[in-house]
Amino acid sequence: MDKICIKGGVPLEGIIPIGGAKNAALPLMAAGLLTPERLILENVPDLADITTMANLLAQHGVAISLETVRGSGNMLKLCAAHITSTTAPYDLVRKMRASVLVLGPLLARCGRARVSLPGGCAIGPRPVDLHVKGLRRLGAEVELRQGYIDARAPKGLKGAEIAFPTVSVGATENLLMAATLAEGETLLINAAREPEITDLATCLVSMGARIDGIGTDRLRIVGAGQLSGTSHMIIPDRIETGTYIMAAAATDGEVRLTGTRIDLVAALVRTLEGAGVEVSATADGLRVRRRGGSLEGVDIMTEPYPGFPTDLQAQVMALMATATGASMITETIFENRFMHVPELTRMGANINVHGASALVRGVRALMGAPVMATDLRASVSLVVAGLVASGETVINRVYHLDRGYERLEEKLAACGARIERMRNAR
Ligand code: EPZ
Repeated sequence: MDKICIKGGVPLEGIIPIGGAKNAALPLMAAGLLTPERLILENVPDLADITTMANLLAQHGVAISLETVRGSGNMLKLCAAHITSTTAPYDLVRKMRASVLVLGPLLARCGRARVSLPGGCAIGPRPVDLHVKGLRRLGAEVELRQGYIDARAPKGLKGAEIAFPTVSVGATENLLMAATLAEGETLLINAAREPEITDLATCLVSMGARIDGIGTDRLRIVGAGQLSGTSHMIIPDRIETGTYIMAAAATDGEVRLTGTRIDLVAALVRTLEGAGVEVSATADGLRVRRRGGSLEGVDIMTEPYPGFPTDLQAQVMALMATATGASMITETIFENRFMHVPELTRMGANINVHGASALVRGVRALMGAPVMATDLRASVSLVVAGLVASGETVINRVYHLDRGYERLEEKLAACGARIERMRNAR
């Protein structure tokens, strides 16, 4: 298995290009199932999760071709003219929970879908009950048997009002996609407003869907008989953007991020302003540097968009580990998303977890150590910590990083970081 070795203590200086958003690309790929025509997606990141989704779609009968355009993201062409299977098998779904996003499109287009239940996850139980309840509201018969969600709508789906009791990104995406082919009007109330949902809705509109309220928590969809193909450019990855902002601030460096937008990380920018980090817009992205020398502890609470994203919670904790003073970090989205805490503690961080909150008391320095990652964002928080720590940090289970960060070592090394991948290291 690959490992990543970092010799920390070098301030990052330079330019980092940001790729297309993984969490926008995955639902957009699933949206390819809604039309028999060709969907072209541009700015697709080159990541393990994208390959997993492509493999899943291929086994449903989708014709897929990928053109590598180095430096400006890949172009993915999908054509679901003939859907040959409506079953998403356990072997593929267990690799990536986002596979459940084929449920709504398959059911809406074919009147049948059998999708494996994703099972547990390192960051919490992550049920899919809201997806299932929503599809039932649209008139589907859904049963859970033998570990599968078995959904049928032989006469097609019918528009309905669906009020989500809690905000769910995936359930909003699944039901939004399903509603585009349902008969009549669907109203999604308390819908998630993440930029990835806006991106999906924008693409669906360009495929011929009728959607009002894009960017708000009330989406009104009027179903169409059929959707057409289109070409769509995926938005920049705001979590990759936020991660490199934190890496630059943590190392007291100065970095320019290109191919991204400051408005996508507004909550992070506001938080970091209080911590003494200046993030300013540039013509093609943003620039990060500390305002003075020191970093101040600030309190953070994760919330659905436009609040502080849970996907940046582990990275901001690594940043706060060497701030002056204390920082209270509260996780409200997932029940078990502090798995990085024991690893950061092994590197010398002073962190105490009390329920959903972690109290981080800043220390003068972190020390390199061998560490183990449990999920994507936890792994990258260890990279941020390793870049600041004195001595050597070796990160195991790098496959987590490959799911969501494209050419991570290359991008950081170009800014002076002493980082390398040890292939097949024991
Ligand atoms: C998406 O996951 C992202 N994944 C996650 O990113 C992200 O952390 C999460 O949204 C929150 O922003 C993708 O976009 C592919 P949710 P999703 O449904 O859709 C509960 C990363 O690192 N819930 O918004 O699965 C759930 O348990 C990943 O890139 C139910 O109770 O998240 C959680 O507590 C990790 N029932 C909360 O809602 C349901 O049916 C929010 O989950 C669905 C969700």
